[in-house]
Amino acid sequence: MNTRLSIDSANASKHFYLEPLAPEKAIGNFNCSVGEYNEYLVEDAPRSQKDHIAKTWFLRELRTDLPAAYISLIADAIKLSFTEKELHDLNYPFKTIPAMKIAKLAVDNAFAGKYKGLGSLMIQTAERLAWGCNNDYCACRFLTVDADIEHNEGVRTFYEKNGFLLNSELYNKNRKTLSMRKDLYR
Ligand SMILES: CC(C)(COP(=O)(O)OP(=O)(O)OC[C@H]1O[C@@H](n2cnc3c(N)ncnc32)[C@H](O)[C@@H]1OP(=O)(O)O)[C@@H](O)C(=O)NCCC(=O)NCCS
Repeated sequence: MNTRLSIDSANASKHFYLEPLAPEKAIGNFNCSVGEYNEYLVEDAPRSQKDHIAKTWFLRELRTDLPAAYISLIADAIKLSFTEKELHDLNYPFKTIPAMKIAKLAVDNAFAGKYKGLGSLMIQTAERLAWGCNNDYCACRFLTVDADIEHNEGVRTFYEKNGFLLNSELYNKNRKTLSMRKDLYR
């Protein structure tokens, strides 16, 4: 029997709060299924944030104050084919359209065993931050991600369930990732 509690934007604040990475604050033994994503938190995430290369947000459980999930976000620009531009009704001559990219996203295994929907909640969090950026600072039409199929074969399904589409410029050179996008306004 699956007894995981479903978390969504309606009940998230009863159990979790969001805050940016603060080097002085403990991250506990964050452990998702991809070792590289755990190691990233130790040195690369604080360094990237200090150098304004990637901003990391933690979702912390209210009861334990431990990070249940994290997401690192960066500015991006996405190339769309003619057909893709038509699909999004973006009839502009520019080669690229502004976007916000999910550079890293992970959910801790122990919390994934307790709660369902944390990965999706982190995507909704990124959407909210991108909408805020549009409202107050600068334009950004898409959320983008290079979905890591090397470490997580099913991750394409996860992003599709969260409204992402495959880009026509699909793969990186090593074909370890799938380039995907989500329109923030359609
Ligand atoms: C990928 C990851 C963030 C998903 O987080 P999560 O909390 O399990 O996701 P959710 O509970 O929000 O899942 C949403 C839906 O996607 C599905 N899904 C999640 N991961 C999936 C996978 N690997 N394969 C197929 N479907 C998947 C869920 O079953 C769920 O479907 P449902 O709504 O029909 O029940 C998490 O598994 C993780 O941290 N993985 C390791 C790091 C990683 O691969 N990060 C992504 C790199 S781009």
